[in-house]
Amino acid sequence: MASVNAAVQWNHVTFSVNGKTILQDINGTFLEGKITTLVGPSGAGKSTLFKLCNGLASADSGDILVAGKEIDSYAPVELRRMVGFAMQDATMVDGTVYENLAMPLTLQGKELTEDKANELLKLVGLPATISDQSTKDLSGGQRQKLSIARTLVNRPSILLLDEITSSLDRVSQQDVEALIVRINKQYGTTIVWITHNLQQARTIGDYTWVMINGQLVEAGESFLLDQPENDEVRLFVKGDNS
Ligand SMILES: Nc1ncnc2c1ncn2[C@@H]1O[C@H](COP(=O)(O)OP(=O)(O)O)[C@@H](O)[C@H]1O
Ligand SMILES: [Mg+2]
Repeated sequence: MASVNAAVQWNHVTFSVNGKTILQDINGTFLEGKITTLVGPSGAGKSTLFKLCNGLASADSGDILVAGKEIDSYAPVELRRMVGFAMQDATMVDGTVYENLAMPLTLQGKELTEDKANELLKLVGLPATISDQSTKDLSGGQRQKLSIARTLVNRPSILLLDEITSSLDRVSQQDVEALIVRINKQYGTTIVWITHNLQQARTIGDYTWVMINGQLVEAGESFLLDQPENDEVRLFVKGDNS
């Protein structure tokens, strides 16, 4: 049984592609309203875990419960509305900031009001005047903020962030970090954040998961990164030079 405060509960989740195990017996919880940071070497299976969480891929075995309900019991549209997903490359279509922001609703045949658009832009720290500009003219930091704003259009209760600050300069990175913490506090949004920046994982996270080679090798409050119990995790943390 999932406890009441599990936004996502993983029970013995296994996933493989062409006979190769990508995720092996994942057990754990992303707690509701908390920030969980997810770290591990490249190829560990972090992004794949997100795909399963968002319904872009299905587990071979085990259960994933989202808000206490079996993930397969949600209609794909419903799941994607509930679980927002932002990625490093912040893909935009050619067009204006407004058109990109409205995209999740446009795809559902709905409209985004100007007031709502301005509210979202304000929330992520972009000026309303940017609305009519082409996304081609945005800086990396502005694109990432727009990408987050676009994810918020559906008011997701869970937000999955995959390396969203990796290509940003330090100031933009800190800006986006503050924004995510603000969203978490203001709306109680459950945040799961994949990052290769261990400093970020440690300071932003309430909880941290460390994945290595398809397995969840250590999980707990984020200070675990200061003194990991697991030998592999200790080596991973020591090798960090970010
Ligand atoms: N569609 C796919 N087909 C084949 N292999 C894949 C596919 N997606 C991911 N993988 C493999 O799964 C492993 C985990 O990848 P990924 O989840 O992207 O790791 P991470 O995000 O931790 O870097 C890697 O070995 C990768 O090559
Ligand atoms: Mg990845």
